[in-house]
Amino acid sequence: MKRRRFLQHSLQAAVLTASPQLSLSLSRQPQYDYILTAEEQSLPVLPDTTSPLLTFNGQFPAPVIRTRQGERLRIHFINKLPQETTIHWHGIRLDNAMDGVPYLTQPPVKPGATFDYEFTCPDAGTFWYHPHMHSIEQLGRGMVGALIVEERNKPAFDADVIVGFKDWRLNSDGSFMPLSEPRHAARAGTLGNVATVNGLQLPEIAVPANATVRLRLLNMDNSRQFAISLGDTPASVIAIDAMPVPLQALDVHDLGVGMRLDLGLHTPTEAGVEIPIYDRKGRFLQKVCSLRTTAPLRSGSPPPIPTLPANPVSEPDLSQAETHRFVFEWAGAMTPVSKDGHAHHEFWTINRRAWAGMHSANLPEPLAQLSLGKSYIFELHNATPHGHPIHLHGLIFKVLSSDRKTITPFFTDTILLEKNERARIAFVADNPGSWMYHCHVIEHMKTGLMGYIRIS
Ligand code: C2O
Ligand code: CU
Ligand code: CU
Repeated sequence: MKRRRFLQHSLQAAVLTASPQLSLSLSRQPQYDYILTAEEQSLPVLPDTTSPLLTFNGQFPAPVIRTRQGERLRIHFINKLPQETTIHWHGIRLDNAMDGVPYLTQPPVKPGATFDYEFTCPDAGTFWYHPHMHSIEQLGRGMVGALIVEERNKPAFDADVIVGFKDWRLNSDGSFMPLSEPRHAARAGTLGNVATVNGLQLPEIAVPANATVRLRLLNMDNSRQFAISLGDTPASVIAIDAMPVPLQALDVHDLGVGMRLDLGLHTPTEAGVEIPIYDRKGRFLQKVCSLRTTAPLRSGSPPPIPTLPANPVSEPDLSQAETHRFVFEWAGAMTPVSKDGHAHHEFWTINRRAWAGMHSANLPEPLAQLSLGKSYIFELHNATPHGHPIHLHGLIFKVLSSDRKTITPFFTDTILLEKNERARIAFVADNPGSWMYHCHVIEHMKTGLMGYIRIS
């Protein structure tokens, strides 16, 4: 019975998301046209039971949205949840009106209402999408999905594999445990107790043997930080947060919440070989999933790992750049604050200000006002004993330096600041609008570590 319901739903979803859809009529229809429905759906996460998930199109993993660099993408979004929501397209440099932030860029999408997101993706790479409202619950219960923007000229990989991390907080009967506990929200975040990759516990993902494979790792969890390692298997980092980097051998890569990592590797020549993917904890390697080779693709040697073409991100002019400083601090207010009749915690601040939630239409002032087209340096200081993946919407910035490690400057949309770390980033303020600027540990953002900048 349960199985049939699940199949029915998957079939329906497959039809809804078959893409790119042939346009029904007019030539001005975007080529990549999707229907995305937010809805409650019970699905199995643990064996022999189901959990009351919040889903896109009744599925977990959520449908993978694929589009192409420079093409118009349209998502007709339908909210069938009993609560308001919005969808944000993480890492995409899009029009501000499409950024999916309630009150700041659009009104919330009410239960039963729809919203058409339509934009062009200037950059290729691995991105993701998620609501920007009731985030602890909506992301925590399953509303996270991959958004893949293919390069104009497809690089020569034999296989392209998504490895999406998302943990769950579940009781053994499949029901959810509280998704946030204040004592953890005030520290590293409340962790899940059921770890999944692509919705499965410790899955084995099939890859062809003797092939050149692209792995797209996405950290779509609310709180967990990974230290990605492939153990003894050689692999190259090819992109960080969708932005291509010169090929570099993977050792251990820290993958904070919201961050992505693209790897290229050559699979072994034989079928049936396991390639484990690990989260390194101190001296220990904890397996999170594996690849398993199927029949070899060829007898000769596989093609070299391609270098990805650079994305068209403007180079900041450091000699002219204006500097802004941001300090991320722990506020230490353990007593809930009452606002609009809601009691909530304010544990974290940016430049001494906490912003605890999107439930009010009264927006605070931006953390910075920037002039369109000018270059900026942001000096970031994490004055807390916890790591924070700091994310900026609508822009790609360059990481210049850190007082903790040697940085080869690279472009990204999220920087993972270690405890007490100071770092410098720079970018050209070339996208007008109000852009969220927050920690991606969802509880940190919901308890203060959030703000926005305005570019005009
Ligand atoms: Cu994944 Cu405000 O973003
Ligand atoms: Cu974002
Ligand atoms: Cu944080």
